[in-house]
Amino acid sequence: MANKISFLNLKGGVGKTSLLVNVASCLAYMGKRVLVVDFDAQSNSSIWLMRLDRWNALNSDPENFVLSVFKEGGSELRNCIQKDIVRDAEGEIALKGLDLVPANFRLMDLEHEVPNPWEKPFYAHFFEELKEVENDYDYIFFDCPPSFFRAPQCAIFCSDHLIVPANPDALSIIGFHLLIDKLEGFRKQTERWRTELSAPDPQILGISIGAVKAGSNIDVPLERFKAQLERFIAQGKVPKKACIFPEQIRHSVTVGRAVMQGMPLVLMSKREASMPVAEDYIKTTQRILSLIGSEVISAV
Ligand SMILES: Nc1ncnc2c1ncn2[C@@H]1O[C@H](COP(=O)(O)OP(=O)(O)OP(=O)(O)O)[C@@H](O)[C@H]1O
Ligand SMILES: [Mg+2]
Repeated sequence: MANKISFLNLKGGVGKTSLLVNVASCLAYMGKRVLVVDFDAQSNSSIWLMRLDRWNALNSDPENFVLSVFKEGGSELRNCIQKDIVRDAEGEIALKGLDLVPANFRLMDLEHEVPNPWEKPFYAHFFEELKEVENDYDYIFFDCPPSFFRAPQCAIFCSDHLIVPANPDALSIIGFHLLIDKLEGFRKQTERWRTELSAPDPQILGISIGAVKAGSNIDVPLERFKAQLERFIAQGKVPKKACIFPEQIRHSVTVGRAVMQGMPLVLMSKREASMPVAEDYIKTTQRILSLIGSEVISAV
């Protein structure tokens, strides 16, 4: 059964998508079968992994996107999966084993406009759809917007773990605080369906600090993050083994370049001589593997 992980922080622009795309790619590069489900209407992980031209072409049919799974007469999740999504300029598979359920901008309709025909909450319907495909994967990652509406609720309800990407600043800490508050309410609200469907109780795995500028002193925000995490652990809101990952993702303009090229950093680093930020993502991937009790694999 796949290990299912949401990448979530209620602060926007903190590197959720960048971390997810690159950790997912590292795992596929290490030989794992990985599915990314894009639950953000901004569609950033879809556009990064597909490049804009292929994503635009896919938009000719709304049934290709995750929103369709929620509509009466829409797609089964299985039929929305785009296989081996990372391709080179010639359209050849550039990374085997990384599949995608893409989002498009219409996903925002899920919040207000799409009627629910399932006699159960959307998250319970999605959980059952995911069950049909999860044995095909080792890892399933959910890219979430910085909100707690229906789409991210589907991701959280299905997840074994949550990873909180953050920048070393006060606003990221507030986003983390809000997230823990909202999670508590959601856990209570979903108890009945969780029991009925034997859904997992998602646990915070840790906080990944990203976009750290060379030479900048981040001791103060790190201390505050640590203190906040310890308070939550003492209150029993976060598991004892949750941590701030010791590996940080450095700030690098290469990340923006990777988006433009539709390439994860682990592949770009094979073409270019030195790419320390790609190493950061590999080390973070290995940290995640060790925290979830999986065998840590070398990236070479
Ligand atoms: N390590 C990094 N170095 C430099 N820029 C980065 C790094 N990580 C992310 N960025 C940039 O920061 C911006 C926000 O990153 P990203 O889209 O991953 O954040 P997000 O949390 O997913 O945002 P949103 O909340 O809008 O979904 C992007 O422009 C991205 O290219
Ligand atoms: Mg994002």
